[in-house]
Amino acid sequence: MLAARADRGRRGAGAISLNSGRCRAAILISGSGSNLQAFIDQVARHELALDIVQVVSNRDDAFGLKRAANAGIATRCLPHAQFADRESFDRAMARALDDAKPDLLMLAGFMRVLSPWFVAHFEGRILNIHPALLPAYPGLNTHQRVLDAGERWHGSTVHFVTAQLDGGPGILQGRLAVRPGESAVVLAQRVQAIEHRIYPEAAALFASGRLEYRDGMAWLDGERLQQPLVRDF
Ligand code: GAR
Repeated sequence: MLAARADRGRRGAGAISLNSGRCRAAILISGSGSNLQAFIDQVARHELALDIVQVVSNRDDAFGLKRAANAGIATRCLPHAQFADRESFDRAMARALDDAKPDLLMLAGFMRVLSPWFVAHFEGRILNIHPALLPAYPGLNTHQRVLDAGERWHGSTVHFVTAQLDGGPGILQGRLAVRPGESAVVLAQRVQAIEHRIYPEAAALFASGRLEYRDGMAWLDGERLQQPLVRDF
């Protein structure tokens, strides 16, 4: 790890970093891993300057583990059911992650609620992507709920993770217009295609040192982000 990154690790969340080294990213998954694949592909095409140092899953049948193995990325699987409680699972996961010395953790379809202990351990270094325009529609089944409510707009949000579920400061949103009569399946596919664009974009901002988390807020180029950046698709 080069000096600037080691410095960020020592000083904790929010430290200004010159980021002279490549960002070491760990990606947490529970399922298909299409967002993971987007990261793998962009890194391979030299469109995203970070190193994916580890992929961790809480499910041994997650297809994303195969995607990672195919790309030569180290994987760890920690089935959550084998642990007595949420925090003991999180502590085991943190030990595995700490071994890989990540600068950044990205939740990519990781469907476990993280304990406050875990979030504090990696404070300011965890991103999540959620398939809705937060703060609207936290939680599950977002696409159907958006259709049921007759919303005109939908999309996905990249945000910093805090102890509040789907509640951390927003960084980047991809937005689309809901089409009349479309199904939740089609809407989900369209939202996922957007995710594969905006998540790497947000990761690149963090990896370059332009984006950071400080005092419970997201900062971009030293300015507080009052609301997430929005990309229309
Ligand atoms: C993504 O659409 C992501 O937004 C969602 O899971 C999907 C994972 O897809 N995450 C959540 O719902 C978290 N609350 P993937 O495994 O193909 O990347």
